[in-house]
Amino acid sequence: SPLIARTVPTLRRAVDNLRKRKATIALVPTMGALHDGHVSLVRLAKRRASRVVVSIFVNPTQFAPTEDFGAYPRTWKADIAKLAAEDVDIVWHPGVDAMYPDGFATRIVPEGPAIAGLEDRFRPHFFGGVATVVGKLFTQCRPDFAIFGEKDFQQLRVVSQMTRDLDLGVKVVGSRTVRERDGLAMSSRNVYLSPEERRTAPILYRAMKDSAGRIRAGEAVASAMKRGAATIEAAGFALDYYEARHAETLAPLASRKDGPLRILVAAKLGTTRLIDNIAV
Ligand code: PAJ
Repeated sequence: SPLIARTVPTLRRAVDNLRKRKATIALVPTMGALHDGHVSLVRLAKRRASRVVVSIFVNPTQFAPTEDFGAYPRTWKADIAKLAAEDVDIVWHPGVDAMYPDGFATRIVPEGPAIAGLEDRFRPHFFGGVATVVGKLFTQCRPDFAIFGEKDFQQLRVVSQMTRDLDLGVKVVGSRTVRERDGLAMSSRNVYLSPEERRTAPILYRAMKDSAGRIRAGEAVASAMKRGAATIEAAGFALDYYEARHAETLAPLASRKDGPLRILVAAKLGTTRLIDNIAV
């Protein structure tokens, strides 16, 4: 089973030992409550590098006071069993005090194109918290690769931009979204859904697929997106955004001819906020 590191010196020693044996290292950052989406990242990590570090840290700085930090699912024993089954080498599990000791007073604040008026518009604290903790995870572990899910598409863009801008020397790798059989993207937050909401939730994916199909068939982006948004709202979701963006820059795109398109959605079902995205 994996070595469990809870302090920076322990992690550094463990990583240095692997380095002495010429290992290459891939890091998979998570907040735990692991599901098959996370496991798919671990498997990609193992294909990229000889050793894998998985971090489990529910990062308080990316939650607003009104959000679900306290309620976020914590399933430590099941998580460790899954990581042991995948032959993960190190689990990095700092306490909040190890990550943010008394006197901590620095933040990495993303700006520029990756802050595209999507998640940042509805969770203004979010990417500052993510960039700060991912920057710390990278410098604590110093991996060759870090694997992130396309499920959080804007997060993947923000992390890539920050890694480039700050010369962190980590190769950021995106990994495709793992879905339930009915199309719902796997998420640690899906456990919040009532049985009825769970039956409604896959409509997000179906609406995106329908919009993407229409755009590919030549329908105008605006009209295909308007129809998808209406479907989602008619099913009872409160929509934050439903947008077609340039897949690399996240700039708004009016036409498929202007570049590769990605459809991104965020919507609340009851009190649960779901996000998802697909390529057109
Ligand atoms: P968390 O939500 O635990 O997700 C950890 C990683 O798993 C992220 O890169 C996310 O995109 C990926 N992931 C989640 N669901 C997935 C799915 N269905 N298919 C494929 N990958 C999936 O994202 C975070 O944690 C945090 O913001 C973090 C980056 C760890 C910083 O605190």
